[in-house]
Amino acid sequence: MKRNIFITGIGSGLGLALARLYLEKGYTVLALSRHLPKDLENEPNLHFLECDLSHLEQVKCCTKKITALVDHIEIAILNAGILGEIKDMHQTSLKEINQVMDINVWANKLILDVFIEEKKKVKQIVAISSGAAINCNRGWSGYSISKAALNCLIKLYAREMENTHLTALAPGLVLTPMLNYILEKVDENKYPSVKRLKKSPKRTPQETAELLYSIFPQLLRYESGSFIDVRKM
Ligand SMILES: NC(=O)c1ccc[n+]([C@@H]2O[C@H](COP(=O)([O-])OP(=O)(O)OC[C@H]3O[C@@H](n4cnc5c(N)ncnc54)[C@H](OP(=O)(O)O)[C@@H]3O)[C@@H](O)[C@H]2O)c1
Repeated sequence: MKRNIFITGIGSGLGLALARLYLEKGYTVLALSRHLPKDLENEPNLHFLECDLSHLEQVKCCTKKITALVDHIEIAILNAGILGEIKDMHQTSLKEINQVMDINVWANKLILDVFIEEKKKVKQIVAISSGAAINCNRGWSGYSISKAALNCLIKLYAREMENTHLTALAPGLVLTPMLNYILEKVDENKYPSVKRLKKSPKRTPQETAELLYSIFPQLLRYESGSFIDVRKM
């Protein structure tokens, strides 16, 4: 039987590395993202649909279109995410926080709704979360709130999706454009967590993709809806 994965956000970083890895392993990859990376353009087993997840009114339609291509999904990886600017809460507008919430939380809610409404057979769902959901360090404002909300969203859907196993998974530190922005552009004196991040161990996107690929089956042992940090497994 053909093995299919669904993934959001393959334009760069972790999502791109995961898409590449699953293609190498012979999977059919269904991807929603804004950008199709050049080296994946001619992949026969990649079904790419251009979709800007910040346009919430399009998300359901895109999800329906791409998932209609298959009758079952082994794993759906809700990876797309944005950080927003690292700055103090009192300087962060609701508009900025809502932009982060739309992509990191509400787009995922709409995707999960489609899985339920279309009665899709999805064995496992992994939403890429972050330690920021728990840490709430100074400056991580909308991002921390969005990942805490994502963890809650996954737990809530786990109670409704009896035939699907859900996890919110923190992948550890990954050397992607998102982390590079923090390491290179954020004032470590004002935001001390950046100092700690600089000293902490990090993986490349490829190393993390390999790690997650090996960890995903192990997640099935945990209660559906759990938040798990790969650094604590
Ligand atoms: N890097 C870390 O250390 C770290 C740690 C914990 C959690 N995470 C999480 O890991 C996930 C991947 O992040 P990353 O580190 O790989 O960062 P990244 O390189 O900035 O990747 C972000 C991904 O999200 C997609 N995306 C962003 N806005 C989108 C939109 N409006 N519509 C559709 N797709 C959109 C991008 O694809 P397009 O280019 O196609 O838009 C890209 O593939 C995120 O959920 C992030 O919160 C990362």
